[in-house]
Formats: sequence, C-alpha cells, structure tokens
Amino acid sequence: MSGRLADHTIEQNWQAYAEDEHAVWRLLFERQQKLLKRRACREYLDGLQQLGVAAHGIPDFRRLSDILDRATGWRIVPVPGLVPDEVFFAFLAARRFPSTCFIRRRDQLDYLQEPDVFHDIAGHVPMLMSPVFADYMQAYGEGGLKAVHLGHLNHLARLYWYTVEFGLIATDEGLRIYGSGILSSAGESVYCLKDSHPHRLRFDLRRVMRTQYHIDRYQETYFVIDDFAQLFAATRPDFAPIYREISVLPEISAEAILPEDRAYAGFVSGKKEGPRVSTARV
Ligand code: PHE
Ligand code: FE
Repeated sequence: MSGRLADHTIEQNWQAYAEDEHAVWRLLFERQQKLLKRRACREYLDGLQQLGVAAHGIPDFRRLSDILDRATGWRIVPVPGLVPDEVFFAFLAARRFPSTCFIRRRDQLDYLQEPDVFHDIAGHVPMLMSPVFADYMQAYGEGGLKAVHLGHLNHLARLYWYTVEFGLIATDEGLRIYGSGILSSAGESVYCLKDSHPHRLRFDLRRVMRTQYHIDRYQETYFVIDDFAQLFAATRPDFAPIYREISVLPEISAEAILPEDRAYAGFVSGKKEGPRVSTARV
C-alpha cells in the first residue's frame, strides 16, 4: 500500500474488543439474519456464508481479508472513520476496502448516521466476494479519482448512494436487496421492499446521477437493476461527456417522478414486469 494511503489506516486490535461490543454485534447480526434470508440477494448471502461472517462476534479483519483476497483480490484495511474522498477512492481503486473498527452503542441499534464495523463488515464486505461487484467497486474508485478532477463528485456520489448503499435488484424470486446501507438496517430492509411510499424505478445512469438524496431518513426512491452485469456495463463508458450533458439539466429531488421514469412493477401474473405503476409490491 502506498505511504499516503497507509497514513490513514489503524490497527483493528481485535483482542481489545470488550465482551459487550461482541454482544452488540450478536444482537445486530441475529436480527438481520432473520430479515435478510428472504430479502437479500443471493450474492450477499453466499458471500456472508463463504466469509464465515456470523453471529458469534465482531470478525478479525485479517481472517476475512485472507478469504476475500483468495476469492476476488480485495482486502480490508482498518480505518478510524470516514476518510477524505480521494483517499477513499484510491483505496477502492487498489481493491482495498476501508472499514471502521468501532461498533455502535446499545442505544444506537436501530440507527447510526456514520458507518460502524457492523455496517462496513456485515453490510459491504460480503458483496465484495462477488467477482462482478468486486470489479464494479474498483472501477468506481478509479471513477471517483477522475470525478474529483473533473469537479463532478456530486454526480458520481449519487451513483454510489443509489447502488452500493441503497440498491435493489430484480430476481426471479422478486425484488432483493444488495445495497449495504439497507442490508445493515433492520427498519429499511423491510421498508424498501414492502412499503407503498417509496418509488422503485428501473436503473438509469443519468437519472441516478441527477437525483438528490436525504442522508437522514429512509429513501424516497430506489433504483432497481436487473443484474450486476447490467450495472457494470452501464457504468463502463467514459463519464466525462455524461457529466457535461447532465450538468445543464435540472437536478431531481429525492421524491420526484418524471414522465419518462420506468417503475419496477414486481410480479404481475407471473411476469417479472407488469404495467407502469408508480409504486410496486414485492
Ligand atoms: N466509467 C466511469 C468513468 O469514466 C468510471 C466508473 C465505473 C464510475 C464504474 C463508477 C462506476 O468515470
Ligand atoms: Fe457504506
């Protein structure tokens, strides 16, 4: 790892976790296990199992990194908290996932605005076991460095938000979760699939990049991909002309619906997609 990146890392110091910190992990993990079995995408559930991330306690990052490295060439690097944007992107571009080490307090089980070890490890890391998603995250890191240079981080950050953190995927079994912000939230993992309030729209790169988001409440809009290959293909083109194109268009508020939006309609009489409707059921 380059010196500049290494400067932002710490030791996980796994032996130093208190028994009560492991107990908080157990509570969170057991609760999510029950919810996610039928709600998370296959890639996530497989990754979790292959990594042996489980209820017994906060995992040792070195053990996870060895498994992850063999599978997709990613490693986890322990960091104290959010790192500067460019450092974050450089880590991803080098197939390094920066993970926080601390765990939330017992009175924060339901909600925490900043990432903690449960969000980072139980939410993000299992997805990195999927080869296509692993490549997407690296490409995102490279794209991040480029977006900073071009002054379009606002547009690129929305792509991360609506895919990596809050993405949904259409499968033969129905709508499933792949976004880590949802996977680590008991409330939102139910709300995102079942609630009639939020919009569930088919993924469209330009639409996503123009859409604002709220960081302090459940999403008003989710974007649904068909599979990870679609996401990877849609994000492969050079974004520079796309940034120029969308910067003259108005931004779209988190709750807005446009005439050209395509709703995800769930199962309708055995078909994966039915007529256009503004809200969908699983
Ligand atoms: N293709 C993007 C660009 O040129 C890079 C990117 C890939 C960004 C994947 C996000 C996700 O900037
Ligand atoms: Fe996150």
